[in-house]
Amino acid sequence: MNKMKVLIIFGTRPEAVKMAPIVKALKNDEEHFVTKICVTAQHRDMLDQVLRIFDIEPDYDLNIFQSGQTLTQITCKSITGLEDVIEEVKPDLVLVQGDTSTVFSGALAAFYHQVKIGHVEAGLRSGNLYSPYPEEANRRLTGVLTDFHFAPTETSRSNLLREGYDDSKIFITGNTSIDALKWVIDENYRFEDERLNRISFENKKVILLTAHRRENIGEPMENIFSAVKEAAEKNKDVEVIYPMHLNPKVREIARRVFKDMENVHLIEPLDYLPFTNLMTKCYLVVTDSGGVQEEAPSLGKPVLVVRAETERPEGIEAGTAKLAGTEKDVIYKEIDTLINDEEEYRKMANAVNPYGDGKAAEHIREAIKSVML
Ligand code: UD1
Ligand code: UDP
Repeated sequence: MNKMKVLIIFGTRPEAVKMAPIVKALKNDEEHFVTKICVTAQHRDMLDQVLRIFDIEPDYDLNIFQSGQTLTQITCKSITGLEDVIEEVKPDLVLVQGDTSTVFSGALAAFYHQVKIGHVEAGLRSGNLYSPYPEEANRRLTGVLTDFHFAPTETSRSNLLREGYDDSKIFITGNTSIDALKWVIDENYRFEDERLNRISFENKKVILLTAHRRENIGEPMENIFSAVKEAAEKNKDVEVIYPMHLNPKVREIARRVFKDMENVHLIEPLDYLPFTNLMTKCYLVVTDSGGVQEEAPSLGKPVLVVRAETERPEGIEAGTAKLAGTEKDVIYKEIDTLINDEEEYRKMANAVNPYGDGKAAEHIREAIKSVML
């Protein structure tokens, strides 16, 4: 039987986390697949730490990272570099994951070479082209070029059907973020960073904060951080941990707003292993991240989503996540309620997992076999 050659393309931290289970699933099936990996390295440090944890060695590394580069620069460099890789590998199928600029560039480069495209985490929609920006556009544009849509949930499938995509090309697979999560949670986990081991997760209410979205940079991010700061000022049993995204614009706002706050810990981005284990130990998650919104519900952690809208309504419908927006007073009130109202907290702190059975990568592999072999 002829083997199928699959080129897996990714470039940022979340894509690496969510592609890792697929890399493993395809590499474990050598009978059917030849698997090649190309990273654009849109992210560098934040990508490399995930590659290390999942022991992934890319066959091609475009190394496009440059601090502060524009969306146009990321896209142009990625497409140009990917052209050479696609010409050399001659894949039967290219896989991209999510909604970053690497994803759109990967899909476009494959399309220009008339290579079939599989889009992992297809069909997420916020309904607003400018929020999240530019991700909503990236995933819609990628959808147009895609041959096989791997939708994580029924909701994402419905979004694709509404846009006229052919049902026979859509596969509900679950989200591979849940597959990845299974591998890493360890009840006896100890952090390498002793500052984190010194925090009493039993006696303190630890808020895990993450924020990085482009459309939040500026006033919305000031509002988010100010609300968290007020909650930390008024509740002395609260500790805030913010592994700051490496974007200098984000870090400037965080350092300014949280200046001199003793119970707010601004730390470097954590590796995936300590980060997810920190999530299991914390009390509450406040985030604008996509991936974190998916992970926290299955760990039974209430999530306040600090964004104007979300493309991940499943956690909200399941009752573990709440859309808190980007207004300071509203966010503060939501945090304060979850800190001081045990009943409200208990209602949200249920472990539910609307994002699949943790075998999404296997479902994707089998779907590929069913349509390509
Ligand atoms: C990108 C994705 C976003 C995703 C996010 C995950 C796009 C347009 N955006 O946003 O969808 O949610 O990654 O984190 O594709 N930086 C470093 N080192 C790194 C990574 C980033 O220093 O390893 C700094 C650089 O200054 C860089 C800036 O962060 O210019 C922004 O990086 P960029 O890839 O442009 O966008 P993100 O905001 O990270
Ligand atoms: N993450 C991590 N270290 C951190 C913050 C997040 O490893 O300090 C992981 C997190 O568990 C999730 C992914 O990175 O798997 C989410 O990435 P991010 O929030 O940067 O991007 P998004 O999901 O919003 O695109």
